[in-house]
Amino acid sequence: MNKKPIGVFDSGVGGLSVLVELQKLLPNENFVFLADQLNVPYGEKSKKELVKFAFQITDYFIKNHKIKQLVIACNTSTCYSIDSLRKKYSKKNFLPIVGTVPALKPASQNTKSGTVAVISTPATSKSPVMRKFIRDFAKGIKVLNIGCQNLENVVEEGEIDSPKAILLLEKYLKQIKNSKADHLVLACTHYPFLRKTIQKIVGPHIKLIDSGKAIARRTKSLLLTHRLKNKQNKKGKTLYFTTGNAGKFSRVASRLLKNEIKSKKARL
Ligand code: DGL
Repeated sequence: MNKKPIGVFDSGVGGLSVLVELQKLLPNENFVFLADQLNVPYGEKSKKELVKFAFQITDYFIKNHKIKQLVIACNTSTCYSIDSLRKKYSKKNFLPIVGTVPALKPASQNTKSGTVAVISTPATSKSPVMRKFIRDFAKGIKVLNIGCQNLENVVEEGEIDSPKAILLLEKYLKQIKNSKADHLVLACTHYPFLRKTIQKIVGPHIKLIDSGKAIARRTKSLLLTHRLKNKQNKKGKTLYFTTGNAGKFSRVASRLLKNEIKSKKARL
């Protein structure tokens, strides 16, 4: 069991920003990464569709890769499908599940100005989870909650500082630049790849926060709790799959990670 891989999924290449943190913290684990690029962008989908995709991917992981743990490397999917996933798989398949949620708590705890900003997909920004997080973690704090259409798509094209990416970012970040915000939460796993460009636009005084490292820590602690940690001393392996075009995924992933990535097509 302990040698089995951890399944990690996102709508596309964004989840790789979480995967790299997992690989850093858990170098001896095996991973299988799936980008559901047939259905990207998740940020424009309904709850019903997002739950359906999450079930299909989890079934595929269990059947084809016998995963021991699942990481949803996507805020949008987590916000709409983690409860249904847990209900269906945690007990029956003994599958521990880790989700990715907006890092509003640390941002709200550390703000000095009393204003924080969060950028995410349109679906995440209007989700009940986001509302709950603002209510529970940002009491007395002003939160600029901005849903960004199309931003994940520029990352999908591997464009992290192209004129198109800059233009879109300037549009969404304008409000933040003109506010008192001192923390900016990147609540979509595609956005850490835009970190440098975002920081240049908002200025050095705004601290950018994403969830990657926290997800890796949570994954490690669940592995320990369930005695699932891989005891091997050698470096683990990662397999990459996409429901979209494998050539394109490999090209963009290699560019984003500055490392050669080879992926295969998965049919769910
Ligand atoms: N990377 C995803 C997230 O964290 C979703 C991007 C998308 O497909 O819209 O929300």
